[in-house]
Amino acid sequence: MAVRLGDEAPDFTADTTQGQIHFYDWLGDSWGVLFSHPKDFTPVCTTELGYVAKIKPEFDKRNVKVIGLSVDPVDSHEKWDKDIEETQGTAVNFPMIGDPDRKVADLYDMIHPNANNTLTVRSVFIIDPNDKVRLTLTYPASTGRNFDEILRVIDSLQLTDGYKVATPVNWKDGDDVIIVPAVSNEDAKKLFPKGWDEKTPYLRVVKQPNR
Ligand code: BEZ
Repeated sequence: MAVRLGDEAPDFTADTTQGQIHFYDWLGDSWGVLFSHPKDFTPVCTTELGYVAKIKPEFDKRNVKVIGLSVDPVDSHEKWDKDIEETQGTAVNFPMIGDPDRKVADLYDMIHPNANNTLTVRSVFIIDPNDKVRLTLTYPASTGRNFDEILRVIDSLQLTDGYKVATPVNWKDGDDVIIVPAVSNEDAKKLFPKGWDEKTPYLRVVKQPNR
């Protein structure tokens, strides 16, 4: 079954490069990013994992835990980690799930048989502190993902949860944002006492509230 936005993220127990984890316990009160890659010792994946390790402080700042997965076993991940550190300049500093029996891959529908019937696609799931899925993304094996975009989405989701604002096209941290349509003008006056720029009754632009 596909995992969709708003679904409860499937819980699981798995072996990782940092020991066995129970997913919900491991997440605790944090946000989570669970991402899969097709196979160990592959070039695009090597660059992705090195980059995620490099920007891990950015995830930490946002109270987000990251965890990777492939259908290779943990001992293979551990051997591969050395190549990642050597070629990308940063050691992998987050757990990697070994999923040779595809338990987690099947739970999250990470194997798309018409693309490849044994390897996981490049999936990303952003999971909030209530264990709800807030983003799903699927990329082909040959295209490395943009993890800066994942951080941007986390910023947007956290703004929506914290301040009832949405983010417009190509929004970057610091740009103006939009009052969500569910907020009435009456409530908006309390939430945004400095007012807003009403382009149309449904397009109400405000400064980013946490700036
Ligand atoms: C890669 O990570 O480089 C890769 C993996 C599977 C197919 C193509 C590329």
